[in-house]
Amino acid sequence: MDACLYGTDGFYSTRGSAGRSRGDFITSPEVGPLFGAVIARALEQWWQEAGCPDPWTIYDVGAGPGTLLRSIGVAVAETRPWELKNVDIASGDHDLAELPSALDNCVVLANELLDNMPFRVVERRDDGLYELFVADGERVWRPSPVRLEQLELPVGGQVPLLEQASAWVANTLDRGASRVVVIDYGATTTAELASRGGWLRTYRQHQRGHDPLAEPGRWDITTDIAVDQLPSGSIVTSQADFLRRWGIESLVAEGKDYWMAHAAAPDLKAFRMRSRIAEAEALLDPAGLGSWLICQWMPG
Ligand SMILES: C[S@@+](CC[C@H](N)C(=O)[O-])C[C@H]1O[C@@H](n2cnc3c(N)ncnc32)[C@H](O)[C@@H]1O
Repeated sequence: MDACLYGTDGFYSTRGSAGRSRGDFITSPEVGPLFGAVIARALEQWWQEAGCPDPWTIYDVGAGPGTLLRSIGVAVAETRPWELKNVDIASGDHDLAELPSALDNCVVLANELLDNMPFRVVERRDDGLYELFVADGERVWRPSPVRLEQLELPVGGQVPLLEQASAWVANTLDRGASRVVVIDYGATTTAELASRGGWLRTYRQHQRGHDPLAEPGRWDITTDIAVDQLPSGSIVTSQADFLRRWGIESLVAEGKDYWMAHAAAPDLKAFRMRSRIAEAEALLDPAGLGSWLICQWMPG
C-alpha cells in the first residue's frame, strides 16, 4: 500500500497531492468554503480558551491542495495572530512535508489522512491470527506475529490494523500539540468494522474499484478507521453533530438571508452565500460526510 500510494510510481506521487480532490473523491473541504468557515468558529473559541496565544499555529496534515486552510483563512478575522500551515508528504501546494518536532500552541487538523495511511490486514481463525501478504501479485495468508490483546475479533473476522495511523496520532501528541483533530470515516470499534466488512476500498475519479491488487499505483486505497485502535482519551462525535455544535445552521441562515436580500441583482458573494444551503446538505448527510467521525485529543 505504501508503494502503491507514495512510491515513485504511486497514486499520490504521480498525481500530486491534489489528485484525489481533482475528482477522485470529494472531501468536506472540497465541497465548498462552508466546512472551513465552521472549523474557523471552533478555532476561534479554542484560541480564546488557550489565552489567545501569539503566535498560534494551525497545521493541516495531509492537506492535499490546501483547500481547508484557504477557507479557514478567508473566514477568520485578519487581526488574529494565527499561522496557517499545510503539511503533506506528496508534492503539491503546501508549506511542509512533515510536522516540526515541537508543537506548543498548535492545533493539528487531519481530514481524511488516517484512512490513507498504510495498514496491515489480519484475520482471526480457529488456530490463531493470520495476516495478509502479497507475493508475486497474489494474496498469501500467513500466521501473524501481531498480538491483539486489546481488540475483540471474532473467529472469521477480518480487519485493518492501523499501526501507522495510531503512531502518527501518538507522535503528534508527544510533540506537545494543544489539540489534535482527526476527521475520517470509520467506526468506534474494530469489532464493528469486522461485522460490517467493506472497509477496504479503492477509488479513482469517482469510480469505486474492485480489486486493490489491480493496477498498482493507479488507484487510491483507503480503509475505514477504528477509533479503538487510536490512542485513548479522544472525544468522538459525528461530523454532523460537530458542525451543528459550531454553528453551521446559523451560517446557512445567514447565507439564505443574504441571498434573499440580493436575489434581484446577485453579486458573487450572493451566489457563494446561497451555495451554503447545498454545501450544508452534503456536509451533514447522515449517509455520507455527516456520518464521518471527528476525534479530538486535548492533552493537559
Ligand atoms: C485523501 S487526501 C486528503 C486531502 C485533504 N485533507 C482533503 O480533505 O481534501 C490524503 C492526503 O494525505 C497525504 N498523506 C498521506 N500520508 C501522509 C503523512 N504521513 N504525512 C503527511 N501527509 C500524508 C496524501 O499525500 C494526501 O494528499
